[in-house]
Amino acid sequence: MTRRIIIAGNWKMHKTAEESATLAKEIVAALKAAPSANEVVVCPTYVALDRVSSVLAGSGIALGAQDMHWENQGAFTGMISGDLLKAVGVTYVILGHSEQRAYFGETDATVNKKVIKALADGLSPIVCVGETLEEREGNITEKVVETQLRGAYADISAADARKTVVAYEPVWAIGTGRTATSQQAQDVHKYIRGLLASIYDAATAESVRIQYGGSMKPENAAELLAQPDVDGGLIGGAALKADAFLGIIGAA
Ligand code: 13P
Repeated sequence: MTRRIIIAGNWKMHKTAEESATLAKEIVAALKAAPSANEVVVCPTYVALDRVSSVLAGSGIALGAQDMHWENQGAFTGMISGDLLKAVGVTYVILGHSEQRAYFGETDATVNKKVIKALADGLSPIVCVGETLEEREGNITEKVVETQLRGAYADISAADARKTVVAYEPVWAIGTGRTATSQQAQDVHKYIRGLLASIYDAATAESVRIQYGGSMKPENAAELLAQPDVDGGLIGGAALKADAFLGIIGAA
């Protein structure tokens, strides 16, 4: 089974719409000049989605959002729905990011509701899982990842699971400059693939792409992406500069 590498930039709470459009233009121009076989996704802030969508049109680069609500519409101040995202050209949505879990009350149950809704809306969820430093040092990484994964995929069919991407993001590696070693990443990715095989079946597990996230940069991307179960990257800091992001795409 060959899985197409997927490199996604999570721009988090950075860049105005104007700045986002500029960065997107740089990425589009560079990939037009030197096309990549990899799938590329950028996930700007909500207020930049529309502008960036126009810049990406026809480029083959996909647009992602950083979260969504599980309802269609209604009195949910501050929230955004899958329909609204789709209307501006979004095709991927990051769900269950550790920052959402840590700061905004995201739970495995809310992640599950969002995954179900995103799939119903025709969006591809990027489902984030990962342990904290304390959990890793307590040797419960696999248990934590299993709970998060089983929670997120509850009541999701195998056919729908194949439309999802898993992002393994060890919390201790996010924004810290401390990357998981390629072996640490591979070990957890392999474990996640085994879990998917036990929840679903071997063919489904083989088809789901598993991204690594956490201080990925051009210097460490090649080695991480060379691991058999590492199928891409979800990149924060290094995705905010065209050169670094393109370097990671090139390293894949
Ligand atoms: P950094 O690449 O900045 O560590 O962020 C990773 C991340 O959280 C992507 O979602």
